[in-house]
Amino acid sequence: MKRICKVSIMSIIAGCLLMVSGLCSAAEESSPGKTLILYYSRTGNTQAACEVLQKELGADIQEIKDLNSRDTKFGMIAGMLKTIMGMQTDIEPESVAVESYDTFIISAPIWASKFGLAMRTFVERNSFQGKKVIIFITADSFVEEEYQQKHAALLTESGGKVAGHFQVQAMDVVDNEKVPRTKEKIVEETMKLVTDIKACIAGEK
Ligand SMILES: Cc1cc2nc3c(=O)[nH]c(=O)nc-3n(C[C@H](O)[C@H](O)[C@H](O)COP(=O)(O)O)c2cc1C
Repeated sequence: MKRICKVSIMSIIAGCLLMVSGLCSAAEESSPGKTLILYYSRTGNTQAACEVLQKELGADIQEIKDLNSRDTKFGMIAGMLKTIMGMQTDIEPESVAVESYDTFIISAPIWASKFGLAMRTFVERNSFQGKKVIIFITADSFVEEEYQQKHAALLTESGGKVAGHFQVQAMDVVDNEKVPRTKEKIVEETMKLVTDIKACIAGEK
């Protein structure tokens, strides 16, 4: 009985660690090469996380902008509807020098369980043929495995070899109320993932 209890506690701890640490699938060992972080961010959470990743990984970074403003209520609702309907938006840049990089970190906020519109548009319009891709998202709630697989499928359709899926939550639940995390907290949580992301890039996990 005691042993069963111990095993259950260990499983719960392992489950909790997974919630903050993300997943890196077994990949062939390879030379890490150059990494480009591509991100879209509407309110700065994903941007804050990506900027610290850039410093820690020594990677290049490129923001993908949505040319249709999502700052107004109307713009945001229109973006949400387009996301739900699988439509695209106007983005800048339209493409990057994919051939110059070995690894891509594709980073976006989650909208209606999918990548934020500008990033989904970018992924659908570009090819990552044969490139290692690591997904890094921010979202208010923990994104379950089912949706992680859908994100990975989008990248696979664009030719990428998905090596990992990482996430940082943008909300805490305090006394049954949702409280937005500060950018500092988001950066702190991102820092906890750096070792695993580095290992994922290096193909060590
Ligand atoms: C239109 C819209 C839809 C969203 N949908 C979800 C969702 O389905 N699940 C979730 O956990 N968070 C959702 N969020 C919350 C964002 O993913 C989260 O706040 C994210 O950290 C914002 O990142 P940003 O500051 O880089 O834009 C949504 C936010 C917006 C604006």
